[in-house]
Amino acid sequence: MPQRKRYLFVCVNRRPDGTPKGSCAQRGAVEIHAALKSELQARGLAKTEVRACTSSCLDVCWAGPAIAVEPDGYFYGRVTMEDVPAIAEAFANGTRVERLVLPSNDFDEKTSAPPLPVPQPKPVEGGEP
Ligand code: FES
Repeated sequence: MPQRKRYLFVCVNRRPDGTPKGSCAQRGAVEIHAALKSELQARGLAKTEVRACTSSCLDVCWAGPAIAVEPDGYFYGRVTMEDVPAIAEAFANGTRVERLVLPSNDFDEKTSAPPLPVPQPKPVEGGEP
């Protein structure tokens, strides 16, 4: 396999349900990683240009789901499934999705913009009240 020009590290860290900090996996990062892989493959980028890898915690949990883009050295944050086509398209065009690029204040929890909500698990039908 050739070395790709870029590697995406998609944090798929999962903390136990109810942890106040939440985690990227609880905000949909596993599905985002899978969709990103598919999008990059569909655009013919996966084998030579960009590889989407999974990662453990990137230490910007409050701004997750987070993706580190290397060797460019920037992070995408608060990524949703709806953002995946735009991210792949930007790699195809040699650009980036500026609205998702984390500014320096997002690397400190005290100065970061608010996190995306952690979806609450749906009650199981017929389960305990
Ligand atoms: S859990 Fe994803 S950055 Fe920490």
